[in-house]
Amino acid sequence: MSALTTEEFSVYAKLIIDLTGIDLDSKKGYLIEMRLDPLVRELGLTGYSDLYYRIRNDSSGALARKVIDRITTQETSFFRDRSPFEMLKFKILPELIDSRRGSFPAGSRIPLRIWSAAGSTGQEAYSILIAVKEALGDLSGFSVSLLVTDISDSAIAYASRGIYQPGEIDRGMSPELLSRYFLPAAGGFRVRDDIRSLATFKRWNLLDDFSRFGPFDVIFCRNVAIYFAEPEKRRLFDRLERVLADDGSLVVGSTESLLGTGRSLEARRYHHSVYYRRPDKAVSV
Ligand SMILES: C[S@@+](CC[C@H](N)C(=O)[O-])C[C@H]1O[C@@H](n2cnc3c(N)ncnc32)[C@H](O)[C@@H]1O
Repeated sequence: MSALTTEEFSVYAKLIIDLTGIDLDSKKGYLIEMRLDPLVRELGLTGYSDLYYRIRNDSSGALARKVIDRITTQETSFFRDRSPFEMLKFKILPELIDSRRGSFPAGSRIPLRIWSAAGSTGQEAYSILIAVKEALGDLSGFSVSLLVTDISDSAIAYASRGIYQPGEIDRGMSPELLSRYFLPAAGGFRVRDDIRSLATFKRWNLLDDFSRFGPFDVIFCRNVAIYFAEPEKRRLFDRLERVLADDGSLVVGSTESLLGTGRSLEARRYHHSVYYRRPDKAVSV
């Protein structure tokens, strides 16, 4: 593996912030080398500078997307950290539905619009849908929709297939939920169609304007802001707040916090997890 020069590191660090918001500090040169060296070889290029030059001159953006695919960390698992999904099931959904019951005429379906932003390969999205189904049982009184987005082409394509290998299932999916929500397929397990059909999948960069996707009743935006540079993080939280319904809830990663970002959302605690909502006086459906 060839080594990245200091100058190459600086141009790549800037390129990666511009493309993704991800801040690689100078100790992460090895990460660029580890992840981009195979691409340099695959494309038969002379080195990192050659790759950079081609990215900048590729007006289709295809090469930049390949780099994004390689450079992003797509680590995820079913029911990751467990407690946010318990919180969704036992706190966020009951609270939301209680607040809405009175506002929707009897017989009409209560909308539940959920977003798994930076949903990687889909484990978070399907965990959300399973938690919703477990909490509500019969969904006929609700109009449930889940948008799953990620910047990575390959991650979002994987998510939309909804097929997972045993090693992925072993990371967080209980045998009981597996038998209830998956069917055997292609040496692994496929998410049942009635669950999968509640989701739509889209490649989307969180640096781009997403105002037209909202409003959302629940947003899971977990384990992505942690990689962002400070200004990009602030802007992201700012824009997430704007697409949150008045009575909506935002869930971030267990090591992330809106504290200090100047947001007007307030933190609420449920056991080991936190979610963010507008202060009570602002709530109206
Ligand atoms: C560590 S994974 C987290 C996945 C999932 N939310 C979870 O907590 O398990 C981070 C994801 O963020 C995505 N990502 C990174 N930068 C992004 C951006 N600017 N816009 C959208 N997604 C991004 C990556 O592709 C990756 O799939």
